[in-house]
Amino acid sequence: ELMQEYGFMGLIGTSLPMQRLYEQIRNAAASEAPIVITGESGTGKELVAKAIHRLSRRQTGPFMTVNCAALNEFLLESELFGHVKGAFTGAVRDRKGRFEAAQHGSLFLDEVGDMPLSMQVKLLRVLQEREIERVGDQRPIKVDVRLMSATNKNMEELLGQGKFRDDLFYRINVIPIHVPPLRERIEDIPHLIAHYLERINQINRKAIRYISPQALEAIEAYPWPGNVRQLVNMIEYATMTAKGDSIEPVDLPEYLFRKGAPAIIPSRGGKERITKEQLDATLRRFKGNRTQSARHLGISRVTLWKLIKEFGSVG
Ligand SMILES: Nc1ncnc2c1ncn2[C@@H]1O[C@H](COP(=O)(O)OP(=O)(O)OP(=O)(O)O)[C@@H](O)[C@H]1O
Ligand SMILES: [Mg+2]
Repeated sequence: ELMQEYGFMGLIGTSLPMQRLYEQIRNAAASEAPIVITGESGTGKELVAKAIHRLSRRQTGPFMTVNCAALNEFLLESELFGHVKGAFTGAVRDRKGRFEAAQHGSLFLDEVGDMPLSMQVKLLRVLQEREIERVGDQRPIKVDVRLMSATNKNMEELLGQGKFRDDLFYRINVIPIHVPPLRERIEDIPHLIAHYLERINQINRKAIRYISPQALEAIEAYPWPGNVRQLVNMIEYATMTAKGDSIEPVDLPEYLFRKGAPAIIPSRGGKERITKEQLDATLRRFKGNRTQSARHLGISRVTLWKLIKEFGSVG
């Protein structure tokens, strides 16, 4: 019933790593234990947290988010615990913090690895006592909140460097969940493209229905360091450039075609330099079409012609 549209609870993907993730989401939702969700940027950590909340007993309660990297120590404390009128300059009235706002629901601490050490001490105390104090107030307030945290940092490293407290980590990381990078589940890419194409078509009143096999091949060969977020941005870009009702290699951004590690090396002139491998791959991909090849390499047709001569490539 929850398996709609090649995925689960708003997450698209049917690959084995995603099926394992869905299983972990179900287990986490059946529990009250705190969770730490790890994974590279753009893998869907926030979607995972929301899915767990919506499947849990707390689904009728609020889901609140705090980004621990976006606020300084002082603002973060007031954001999490609230403050009372007169607590500091600018505190013109009492204000609830996110812990109170998440009462009987879930609190999602995003980028938890960036939380300052002094705040970590305060958070640990809150988790032990199950009560908070608003800034400028001594009165304890009971809070019933399920904590979920996420980070794209390497927590082991932060622990080793003393940037994150072990005692806090063990307390928040009762259920660890790892979201796999997109390059480890490329079989999900066609489903993601179909899903987001439809969405973008609706928003932009376009009718792009297909993706050519060559374009898909290039997309699947790319390592996607920015994961699903980057893929979605790329699809948006491609739909803007697409002429007909399908996405062709020519509509894809040039970075997809820079194969191999040092595909572009700096030349003596300081300009970016294209390698023979890259040139040949591009020419093959565009079946020798120089206009399309030049466009994808970000160079003029004259420069392309010179490179073909220099490398002795077949153009
Ligand atoms: N499996 C998925 N199916 C559909 N959309 C996804 C999936 N994973 C991620 N997305 C989309 O990609 C974007 C990034 O997802 P999200 O914000 O959850 O990533 P994140 O892991 O929290 O990234 P960051 O570490 O940068 O905060 C969102 O628009 C989200 O809807
Ligand atoms: Mg996020």
